Amino acid sequence: MSTAIAPKRPEIKTALPGPNGRAIVEADAQFVNPSYPRPPFKLVAERAAGVWVEDVDGNIFLDCNAGVAVCSTGHCHPEVVRAIQEQAAQLIHMCGTDYYYRQMPEFARKLDEIVPVRRPTRTHFANSGTEAVETALKLAMHATGREKFIAFFGSFHGRTLGSLALTSSKIAQRIGFKRQVLDVVHVPYPNEYRNPFSAEDCGNGGAAQGALNWIENRLFKTTTPPQEVAAIVVEAVQGEGGYVPAPAGFLKGLRRICDEHGILLIVDEVQSGMGRTGKMFACEHYGVLADIVCIAKGVASGLPIGACVAPADLMDWKPGAHASTFGGNPVAIAAALKTIELLERELVANSAEVGAYLKRGLEKLMGKYECIGDVRGMGMMLGVEFVKDRTTRTPDPELRDRVETATFERGVILLGCGYNTIRWSPPLILTRENVDVALEIFDEAIAASI
Ligand SMILES: Cc1ncc(COP(=O)(O)O)c(C=O)c1O
Repeated sequence: MSTAIAPKRPEIKTALPGPNGRAIVEADAQFVNPSYPRPPFKLVAERAAGVWVEDVDGNIFLDCNAGVAVCSTGHCHPEVVRAIQEQAAQLIHMCGTDYYYRQMPEFARKLDEIVPVRRPTRTHFANSGTEAVETALKLAMHATGREKFIAFFGSFHGRTLGSLALTSSKIAQRIGFKRQVLDVVHVPYPNEYRNPFSAEDCGNGGAAQGALNWIENRLFKTTTPPQEVAAIVVEAVQGEGGYVPAPAGFLKGLRRICDEHGILLIVDEVQSGMGRTGKMFACEHYGVLADIVCIAKGVASGLPIGACVAPADLMDWKPGAHASTFGGNPVAIAAALKTIELLERELVANSAEVGAYLKRGLEKLMGKYECIGDVRGMGMMLGVEFVKDRTTRTPDPELRDRVETATFERGVILLGCGYNTIRWSPPLILTRENVDVALEIFDEAIAASI
């Protein structure tokens, strides 16, 4: 399948999964790690181009999830494929922790230009989001000499032991692993649709003020002396926790608190970065510079790479303090540089423009269906929250699952997040024409599921 012959609509020809797909799902159940958190439907992919994914039985889907917010330039973008092929023919691996190659400083220099961190910066290269976060945690401890962290309920920062101590979006991620390895205190995230704070906590402000007051008036005066806190770790838009954007004033307030107490502000842009929200980084919507930014997912259109970016005077540790054999692999960097070129050329703008069109369409559906409690987000990072009714806002996770499955059965790939939300995280090449098709099918799926 190539973009040139891409269909205009999904084409579903077999039961899902079809016979070839079922055989693969069975083999997977026998041999593959069963702890992968697979959704209620089963997609068995064979090939993909642009926004279209073909499964092993010849069914064609319109992808509005992008391999969980990764294939930012669409599947197998021809320019990205060429960059990967050319690099693979030249140099696949050399281990940048011990040797040098031009791609590492080239990519780090590009990140220095675009990442919302005080310049000049330095970058550590990792292979994944969780490793980028591990780096940020170690760096914060190293740079401040402190050990405590503040994170937020609903957050997802990864599943390795350090990042897991921050992660708090689902109990399944924690159960069985006993004590957390880091000293982390969690604060409710200022979700404006479900403000977790009392009127007293919020004072004259809303949820954002509630969270800031919680940190300053409760934590700092009881369990968590600010002079012992190394960093506050936050997602500018909570991803796995339900596609919940930070309310206005929240990140600026965290910035102020950090500055007052010598605490570092770590912004995890693993899911919200690389154009997903209609700006290169979600932080930019809030006019805030972080001390450390973590990047992965969409940065290399599907090749594994993560990055932790910090001011050069902060990332000032000695050889051996942190390194990675594969991190910053030349082939992954070639894909990342091409991805960023495409993002800057047109895709960040497309994410903002077509994302706004998609959001308007989802809001229209909210007008039609009482079961949609909230439509939120920016660019192509949009959440649709399902409720039993709008007055009580009682979550309806079963309906969410039914809608997710019904949409898939009609040929559009969407994925849940949080307890009762569907996330829209399409490739940033999505067109208005694609949006019209996806919304028509989503509408039909909701009507069939309620
Ligand atoms: C905000 C955020 N941080 C970190 C991670 C972990 O990334 P990875 O799965 O590449 O380790 C994720 C993954 O979903 C994420 O959304």
